[in-house]
Amino acid sequence: MDTIIKRIEQLKREKEVAILAHYYTDERIQALADYVGDSYYLSKIATEIPQKAILFCGVTFMGESAKLLNPEKTIIMPDSNADCPMAHMADIDEIKAVREKYKDIAVVCYVNSTAEIKAHSDVCVTSANALKIVKALPNKNIYFIPDANLGRYIANMIPEKNFVLSNGFCHVHTSIKKENVQKAKELYPEALVLAHPECTWDVLEMADYIGSTSGIIDYTVKSDAEIFIICTEMGILYELELKNPVKKFYSVGHRQFCPHMKRITPEQLLEQLETPSNIVELNEEMHNNANKALERMMVMSK
Ligand code: 13P
Ligand code: SF4
Repeated sequence: MDTIIKRIEQLKREKEVAILAHYYTDERIQALADYVGDSYYLSKIATEIPQKAILFCGVTFMGESAKLLNPEKTIIMPDSNADCPMAHMADIDEIKAVREKYKDIAVVCYVNSTAEIKAHSDVCVTSANALKIVKALPNKNIYFIPDANLGRYIANMIPEKNFVLSNGFCHVHTSIKKENVQKAKELYPEALVLAHPECTWDVLEMADYIGSTSGIIDYTVKSDAEIFIICTEMGILYELELKNPVKKFYSVGHRQFCPHMKRITPEQLLEQLETPSNIVELNEEMHNNANKALERMMVMSK
């Protein structure tokens, strides 16, 4: 493994490729990456770095978003089959039908969505900026796609707007049950519960803090608490423990493991650095339409 790591480091320097990774990737990938973060940070950093090529260690929608925001850059995916099922859980005909029904509706699309779905949306959001963006929209009616759980959470925080929710969900976060959290609280009564907004409402009701993966990490750094119950994918534990060497973290549920993010291996990174083949391509029409919603997110989240 040491030789693979050395070769990856050498090639990324020689070929001037930046490695970006999400917190849910395997810890070997996070350790190799130049930039690790949540979906919003990764989209933003992709536009700021000087490198013209990015090896994006994340799922398809993340690579597509990086390409939409940086059409001139080469975006390479380590595994072209690492795809988030929720990204496909919105229906174009349904979007058209909702637009017909509510004339002033804003279609707000969680970044965990395909470029095609983004192309039919008015603005994108991530879990880090959804609240700020939806609050600032002039529309009273909001169609939030595809994640019903994030949508419900945001709707609850903005009671003055009328939300129509779709029925997408993340199978990793919805498998965290209220009973798992209750059990963890019995074991560690002094622990704070930190949850990602993709969790179901009954889990979110038990949380002391709700936020994106970066939000959860920042919270633990600033908090005086020593023990935390973590309701999100377990890859985040790597950064939590790096940033807080003496604090304790307990991941609830039964091995909260995103099989899509975890497909990515150091061997694939090496292969794609040697001979890139999984290059993100979007046709011009798709690019122009999907880009608007994403660019609007970048402007509104400043
Ligand atoms: P974050 O944007 O909070 O990192 O979440 C991405 C994701 O896929 C959550 O399941
Ligand atoms: Fe998709 Fe859930 Fe995996 Fe995030 S954790 S990439 S939402 S399946």
